[in-house]
Amino acid sequence: MLKKVLILGLAILSFRSLYASDISDVDHNHFGRVYKKVALVTGGASGIGEATCLELSKEGAKVAVTDINKERGESVVKQITASGGVATFFSMDITDESAVESTIKEVVAAWGSIDILVNNAGVPGANKPTDKVTVEEWDYGLGLNTKGVFLCTKHSVPFMKEQRKGGSIINVSSVFGVIGSGGVSPYHAAKGAIRAMTKNDAVTYGVHGIRVNSVHPSSVRTPMTHEYADNYPGGIEKFYEDIGKMHPLGRVAEPLEIAKAIVFLASNDASFITGAELMVDGGFTAK
Ligand SMILES: NC(=O)c1ccc[n+]([C@@H]2O[C@H](COP(=O)([O-])OP(=O)(O)OC[C@H]3O[C@@H](n4cnc5c(N)ncnc54)[C@H](O)[C@@H]3O)[C@@H](O)[C@H]2O)c1
Repeated sequence: MLKKVLILGLAILSFRSLYASDISDVDHNHFGRVYKKVALVTGGASGIGEATCLELSKEGAKVAVTDINKERGESVVKQITASGGVATFFSMDITDESAVESTIKEVVAAWGSIDILVNNAGVPGANKPTDKVTVEEWDYGLGLNTKGVFLCTKHSVPFMKEQRKGGSIINVSSVFGVIGSGGVSPYHAAKGAIRAMTKNDAVTYGVHGIRVNSVHPSSVRTPMTHEYADNYPGGIEKFYEDIGKMHPLGRVAEPLEIAKAIVFLASNDASFITGAELMVDGGFTAK
């Protein structure tokens, strides 16, 4: 009898440790790819950030939806909680160090850790070639887009180190961080900087099990693109059609297609991927 109880006990223990294993995909089918992870997404109120918050929640994470747009951010949280997920909105400007620091502290105090950081918030800035850009436009475009990545990484990493189970940081760059487009000069500089920051942070923090990767979308149907293409002759759908033709897949992306790539990098499915740049661009940069 005692022997039977011991065997049963051992079986339960080994089953539980299999579940708890960081690289096991046993739990994926049942609980989602980022089950019980704590995620913070910047720019989570709209476009790619919104889709990422929803997808992270669908895959089991608790999500801190952060943005400067309170109304839209709260509506993302409502969508998540209505479907049974866990999320909270934080009003956070990525360029404000004290807001970033206190938000990250609040998230850790509430949920016990920070496992996933998605540095997504960004702005296109001045759509001009370099010789037409003012110093103010340069400082704004480069500053906002890179400072957020810097500050959120700076204040998340100490917790990721301390919690001793690593973490995953995903920086949303762009194909414009890798190739030229002939416009948006400060944006190119910022997205190229984010690509290099990603690799440097991957090298620096790998020893702590913190993975850092960048995602490079091309054209995605989001409010940012709508704004950018506002005055396009023929309207926004003609813009998408024409830009879509430049992609080997013949179309632009939906936000969810970028979100799924982000969640992959956030999850243990990407446990040996760090310092990588993932083009999510329908083949745009393959040409
Ligand atoms: N849409 C595209 O085609 C495309 C292509 C490549 C890369 N990207 C990148 O993807 C990311 C998301 O873009 P999107 O298209 O979803 O844009 P979006 O405009 O739909 O969303 C951006 C969000 O960032 C927030 N934001 C702006 N400034 C902020 C600040 N200072 N602090 C906090 N939040 C701030 C906005 O309020 C908004 O909710 C950006 O980094 C963008 O450069 C987008």
